[in-house]
Amino acid sequence: MLPKIDFTTTTAYKYLADHFITINETSLKDLFTQDGERFEKFSILFEDILIDFSKNRINDTTLALLIQLANECKLDEAIKAMYGGDKINQTEDRQVLHIALRNQGNKAILVDGKDVMPDVNAVLSKMEKFSNAIISEDWKGYTGKAITDIVNIGIGGSDLGPVMVTEALKAYKTRLNLHFVSNIDGTHLAETLKGVHPETTLFLVASKTFTTQETMTNAHSAREWFLNSGAKTEDIAKHFAALSTNAKDVSAFGIDTENMFEFWDWVGGRYSLWSAIGLSISLGIGFDNFKQLLAGAHASDEHFQNTPLEQNVPVILGLLGIWYINFFGAETQAILPYDQYMHRFAAYFQQGDMESNGKHVDRNGNVVDYETGPVIWGEPGTNGQHAFYQLIHQGTKLIPCDFIAPAQTLNPLGDHHPILLSNYFAQTEALMNGKSQEEVEEELKKAGKSESEIKELAPFKVFDGNRPTNSILLKKVTPYSLGTLIALYEHKIFVQGIIWNIFSFDQWGVELGKQLAQKIQPELKDDAEVTSHDSSTNGLINQYKSWR
Ligand code: F6P
Repeated sequence: MLPKIDFTTTTAYKYLADHFITINETSLKDLFTQDGERFEKFSILFEDILIDFSKNRINDTTLALLIQLANECKLDEAIKAMYGGDKINQTEDRQVLHIALRNQGNKAILVDGKDVMPDVNAVLSKMEKFSNAIISEDWKGYTGKAITDIVNIGIGGSDLGPVMVTEALKAYKTRLNLHFVSNIDGTHLAETLKGVHPETTLFLVASKTFTTQETMTNAHSAREWFLNSGAKTEDIAKHFAALSTNAKDVSAFGIDTENMFEFWDWVGGRYSLWSAIGLSISLGIGFDNFKQLLAGAHASDEHFQNTPLEQNVPVILGLLGIWYINFFGAETQAILPYDQYMHRFAAYFQQGDMESNGKHVDRNGNVVDYETGPVIWGEPGTNGQHAFYQLIHQGTKLIPCDFIAPAQTLNPLGDHHPILLSNYFAQTEALMNGKSQEEVEEELKKAGKSESEIKELAPFKVFDGNRPTNSILLKKVTPYSLGTLIALYEHKIFVQGIIWNIFSFDQWGVELGKQLAQKIQPELKDDAEVTSHDSSTNGLINQYKSWR
């Protein structure tokens, strides 16, 4: 079981609150001047990833107190509980064992006394065989043609992970074309089907529960489209596979359970890309690359489990977030990959982080009186620079940012990569140092401005700086390094959930809207006036009815 400690009652929290006053008055620039060893002290080289957290508003004392906070909150016990297979997802009475899915050493991991590794490995080898058969064209569609297109139908964790990873690793693409349909909006499926042919398309119905309305509606429409093309019911076996924990509903849908890739209730939806949900990844980049992704994640799992907290990357990243959210009052966290392939990375962690830590009731069942999970957002650099960076540099909000970039590009093209990286380096430097009044005045003088023009313009051109960033520099985006990076972020979310004393692995917050939609759906069937809701909801529904 997880400890249930209110972190605001710890000694470390009180010390941190006092210490915050000192740090809040100190600039990052000064911290660098005071300590020539700052980069060496506050950066970690893990695998082929350099994590530089020296441009944060911390000093040795801050870090020591944050580690003390983690110790007082019994983070080490919590890590042991997760790895040991305790039912730490208490409100759903489940274990949290995505680490088993990438457990390369095959060390036994027990669920209710049974080692899950043989089942995990059996599904992996089924995925391998299936992926190889499709990619090598051994597997034929119902008219004898090879499969050319894969359409993954899923939503949330059954979509975002595979989309993000297959985009990030597009350079490793197999011959197959991947498509992802998630939205219940018929446009998503209709537009996708316009570009594929029933004889050469394989649908993957990806749903942990196999009951999610969006996915099941899209899957039924896809099946209808397939059958309407002239295919027979028995041809479904060659064109539909299911990725799910629910064998009963998979067969009821008409998918042969031979074509079902199983996973288990101890895999959370937003942590499921490592499971059978990753079949689209395995098809899209090949099974060997998928295995490399798992191997990279496993390296992070080992690091998280075995490294002292002071050197533990997810622990440090998690604690830095706590420092900004609970002491500086930061409300958001930007994730900014300087890599076009990683353009869905922030979107992926919107679910990963916000569905995990967007909670306001603690593990004792009490409403918290402190902030928890931040709003996660971001876009790839340099696009973001020309859109929202203005606010990060000169706005009124403190926005901690993670800057991520690969040192080696997968597409060497003229000077593109050095230019991209010069922006990556420049932004964190600019956010830290800013530009002083004197520097601005000097610049304006050089540009030939008069005294009065300088006085008038200068305030707008000053940058306070002192804005914190992490720089994460990967040697290269590979399946292995991406797996490592994703798992580091996953464990960071875990660390923060432990400190905030919340349950990070349930998602009751998405239920209410679903329940109400189910109530409204029958009310939309006819044209009768609706009066059962508040005046706004009634008004909207009735206007819709008059316009449809
Ligand atoms: O949005 C709620 C949620 O349960 C997510 O946690 C999950 O990833 C998604 O729905 C999809 O669920 P399923 O895989 O069961 O269709």
